[in-house]
Amino acid sequence: MSDKEKSTETKREGFSTTLGVLAATLGSAVGLGNIWKFPSLTGQNGGAAFVFVYLICVLLIGLPVMISEFIIGRRAGANNVGAFKKLEPSPTKPWYMTGVVGVAAAFLIMFFYTDVAGWVYSYAFKSLTGGFSQVGATETADVFAKYVGSVAGPLVWQWIVLATISVIIIAGVTKGIERMTKTLLPILLVLLLICDIRALTLPGAFAGVEYLFRPDFTKITAGVVLAALGLAFFKLSVGMGTMTTYGSYIGKKENMPANAVKVALSDTLVSILAGLAVFPAVFAFGFQPDAGPSLLFITIPAVFKTMPFGQLFLTMFFVLASIAATGAMISLLEVPVAYLTEEKRWSRMTATLVSAGTMGVIGSLATLSTSTLSDTLVFGKTFFDLFDFASSNIALPVGGILICLFVGWKLGPKVIMDEASNAGALNNVVFLKVFTVLVRYVAPLAILAVLLNGLGIITF
Ligand code: TRP
Repeated sequence: MSDKEKSTETKREGFSTTLGVLAATLGSAVGLGNIWKFPSLTGQNGGAAFVFVYLICVLLIGLPVMISEFIIGRRAGANNVGAFKKLEPSPTKPWYMTGVVGVAAAFLIMFFYTDVAGWVYSYAFKSLTGGFSQVGATETADVFAKYVGSVAGPLVWQWIVLATISVIIIAGVTKGIERMTKTLLPILLVLLLICDIRALTLPGAFAGVEYLFRPDFTKITAGVVLAALGLAFFKLSVGMGTMTTYGSYIGKKENMPANAVKVALSDTLVSILAGLAVFPAVFAFGFQPDAGPSLLFITIPAVFKTMPFGQLFLTMFFVLASIAATGAMISLLEVPVAYLTEEKRWSRMTATLVSAGTMGVIGSLATLSTSTLSDTLVFGKTFFDLFDFASSNIALPVGGILICLFVGWKLGPKVIMDEASNAGALNNVVFLKVFTVLVRYVAPLAILAVLLNGLGIITF
């Protein structure tokens, strides 16, 4: 890109402060992935060994992909598809398809994410209106099973979720939401800590701590490693262009690699805190750690049941979880909306309504997976599990490989050095040398190996 072209980019709207960049990117990363998916996958995949593999995936793969997305986004200053077209305009080299896969992945994720967000919203509403006051600590599993086994309730809540995020996206009040999440996320953290203290002081809690931190490496299989990799992508919001889009709003003076490291560390901390609230309770109350998606909804109400002001804390927990989920979903819905408005010239209103409507119609298949469609299997999975698996374990890793190859080989070491060091202004040459090796060789090969192995296409 010539300097002249670059100077016209600076007029584009963007995040105004360093804290704003961190808040926006962390706001996208922190969501149901931390408090719902991390504990449920950890429980299904055998505990600490899974956490260990997950941490390696975050460090060696998730972090480099995030930095790569920032580089693509800020260099091009455009939406997820437009960015690739700008950096590789040749029609015979269709790198922009990476962006198209990303838009499709956003839909796949939203099909089931809005379902789970609906559960969270309904739990917030239910605890707010005193619906849990008669429920004993050991009965929470039955309450949840009954709820997701019903048809109308979960569907209505899913549509309430979709309506909420549509209103926000159409109104374009992302700034307001950002400001809101900036103050509310710390409160969620405090609540998690309260939850941790209560859970850790329950009789028999220590078994949960051991479960989370003492690895049994015999539990690691190809499927477990793929699940950990998929979670790393999902958690950090990478592999589909959220961070590319946000990268395009990052100012030329911001330290992108440092921001990525901060996001990865803080996000991981939130997940561990959630794990420390959930697993001690699992063992203290005799729940099953491999309960899967229902785990959070069984353990958290049970934990709060056993403490003073439990009702109040429970309500606050699910209200804040709803807000965190909403922040993450907005960043997901924004990807197709930005694509449709910028590339296809749709109005913002049409783009939002069509995208959200599609998410609601196909997403209802995920919602009905726990009731009328529980026996309908596609590739041996319910629709819910299929959307979840196809997005985290296939679409995001494939997107991740393409993003790494694009930055590592197409843009190349010179552009990496220039863009990620702010043309030499940042003193991070050694870090970027390591990054370059990771993004050119280690990450794409590792993702490919884990993907093929996890899908059973090749076995080591
Ligand atoms: N990271 C978010 C969470 O943990 C979900 C999310 C937002 C996401 N944007 C994404 C996942 C992009 C994958 C890709 O809840």
